[in-house]
Amino acid sequence: MNDYFGNDEYWKEHINKSLEDDIWIDEYREYFNKSGLCLDLGCGIGQYSKRIMEYGYDVVSADISNIALNKVKEFNSNIINIDMRKKLPFENDKFDIVFANLSIHYFSDKETKKIINEIRRILKKDGLFIGSVNGIQGYEKIKETAKVIDYHYYFNKGKFIRLFDIQDVEKYMSDFEIKKIDEKETVRFEHKKNYIIFICKK
Ligand SMILES: C[S@@+](CC[C@H](N)C(=O)[O-])C[C@H]1O[C@@H](n2cnc3c(N)ncnc32)[C@H](O)[C@@H]1O
Repeated sequence: MNDYFGNDEYWKEHINKSLEDDIWIDEYREYFNKSGLCLDLGCGIGQYSKRIMEYGYDVVSADISNIALNKVKEFNSNIINIDMRKKLPFENDKFDIVFANLSIHYFSDKETKKIINEIRRILKKDGLFIGSVNGIQGYEKIKETAKVIDYHYYFNKGKFIRLFDIQDVEKYMSDFEIKKIDEKETVRFEHKKNYIIFICKK
């Protein structure tokens, strides 16, 4: 089975590249207005974990990549290697916030629904699921090479990728109260990128 992230291909390729500082959550600071416990799911090298810790939260930084988690260890001892396709190793109603920046858009429809259900399970009542996913505009960049697997789901250059429009986000988050959905354009690893930010309440 192809397992680009499980085999750590992503961070082998990106770990020495410079990641532009795009901490978009600063614009949404009002949603990080309590102290408490936050899970940064698919945290990568942890630039968001770090900022959420600065906001005053205890953060569990979780990723499938040990290369990335080794970087996070420099400022957060609370790290865990997990595969979010499996049952998340946390009890019900544990977290005040689950944060997932650009990390839940690699999966089949069935896996995506399971992951979002799991996120909902581990959030406290009134807890927030905050994050972002790739926008459908990204299709222009991959259309020459991508194989269509399913609706808005592709296999491109060795990895699966899901692209979202606003209706997709609304559909996947339908068990939550959706507080905000915003479209955003940014630069990441020197490439222009469109993504959709969501803030949802359990
Ligand atoms: C595009 S990076 C985003 C990283 C970080 N959230 C950020 O904003 O820079 C996607 C991250 O998801 C992680 N990831 C991919 N599949 C995963 C899985 N099945 N379980 C846990 N983490 C996964 C990758 O290792 C990678 O760190």
